[in-house]
Amino acid sequence: SQLTDVTLKSYSKTKESNELIQRALMDNDFMKHLEHGQILTIMDCMHPTSLTKGCCVIQEGDDGSTVYVLEEGMVEVTKQGQKLCTIGQGTVFGELAILYNCTRTATVTALTDIKLWAIDRQGFQTIMMRTGLIKHSQY
Ligand code: CMP
Repeated sequence: SQLTDVTLKSYSKTKESNELIQRALMDNDFMKHLEHGQILTIMDCMHPTSLTKGCCVIQEGDDGSTVYVLEEGMVEVTKQGQKLCTIGQGTVFGELAILYNCTRTATVTALTDIKLWAIDRQGFQTIMMRTGLIKHSQY
């Protein structure tokens, strides 16, 4: 099937980054229900990326395809121009569009230069399906 054809690529990380990602996933209301093996696999597959201060990481209303963990810096979450909150390091964001298959629910902007870990929809969904979390609910 299409699923078994997807090769998950792993990216090596420091022990500190592995721990930060794991903690971020386990602190997130949606991710915390994943099996431990899935958390470890997501951690393993996340790749590094960075943006400079002022950049838009996520635009409200867009089709979203990436889940992030903030490794360093601060981001701001806004909805229709209204500030919702700021997010600091060790936090997951961008999970809602992938989990609910909806458009981005808010805009996320870098308040500082930021370092991120990212995983795309295909990798994320492969990990979810391989271990059967979402089973056949979509069919
Ligand atoms: P997503 O909808 O994919 O993209 C925007 C992200 O902003 C969203 O996932 C959440 O991770 C985050 N987000 C949305 N609303 C809030 C909120 N009220 N507080 C904190 N984070 C939020």
